[in-house]
Amino acid sequence: MAEISKILGLMVIILVLAKLGVAQKRKNLQIQNISHDCNKEYISEFYIRANNDSATLDIKAAVIKAMTRPLWLEFNMFIKGTKKADFNRIVGFDINVCDVLEKANNPLLSTWIDIIFRQGNMDKKCPMKEGTYHWKQFKIDKDTIPHFILKGFYRIGVLGYDKRGRDKEMILNVTLYASIKMK
Ligand SMILES: *[C@@H]1O[C@H](CO)[C@@H](O)[C@H](O)[C@H]1NC(C)=O
Ligand SMILES: *[C@@H]1O[C@H](CO)[C@@H](O)[C@H](O)[C@H]1NC(C)=O
Ligand SMILES: *[C@@H]1O[C@H](CO)[C@@H](O)[C@H](O)[C@H]1NC(C)=O
Repeated sequence: MAEISKILGLMVIILVLAKLGVAQKRKNLQIQNISHDCNKEYISEFYIRANNDSATLDIKAAVIKAMTRPLWLEFNMFIKGTKKADFNRIVGFDINVCDVLEKANNPLLSTWIDIIFRQGNMDKKCPMKEGTYHWKQFKIDKDTIPHFILKGFYRIGVLGYDKRGRDKEMILNVTLYASIKMK
């Protein structure tokens, strides 16, 4: 059960990145804005931005301090409701990234992980080491995108954090708003 939710969770990350990255035939995703914040103790520079071609993303993270524990990732996706400013959560999960990396013995999971690591320069090793990581023109084959995301206005939150008991020390925090339209 936990494994399935991790797989689904990872699929959703990829799906969202893919949605940002790929101009589909039928669906058109328009990023309204991306805001981000990072923990300067760990990351001296971070950006994530959609390229002008609307088909790829550029991401850079300069990690200046190695983590001693696994990175956790909390992912939430909300769709705007009928009331103004009212968002309803449709996807939410919390994963230990190192667990997912180390136990990637599921072919589907491995495919998704490969897509991420193939395009960037980050080692598939845990915990995360110092280094300047980048994904230039990050892109996903549109054939790998599931069909269940409908048109609407979305808010997506990705929080990378260090788990300290019940506390979460923020490492990276990305929020983006995007609309999906049918062409
Ligand atoms: C991003 O867009 C949303 C929805 O239009 C808006 O509520 C929010 O204030 C915007 N944030 C920034 C940083 O522009
Ligand atoms: C975006 O692309 C268009 C057409 O290729 C180009 O004219 C424009 O200068 C580009 N804008 C930026 C900010 O790169
Ligand atoms: C992450 O960013 C969102 C949007 O700016 C904010 O509401 C939230 O409190 C932030 N979370 C953390 C842990 O910094």
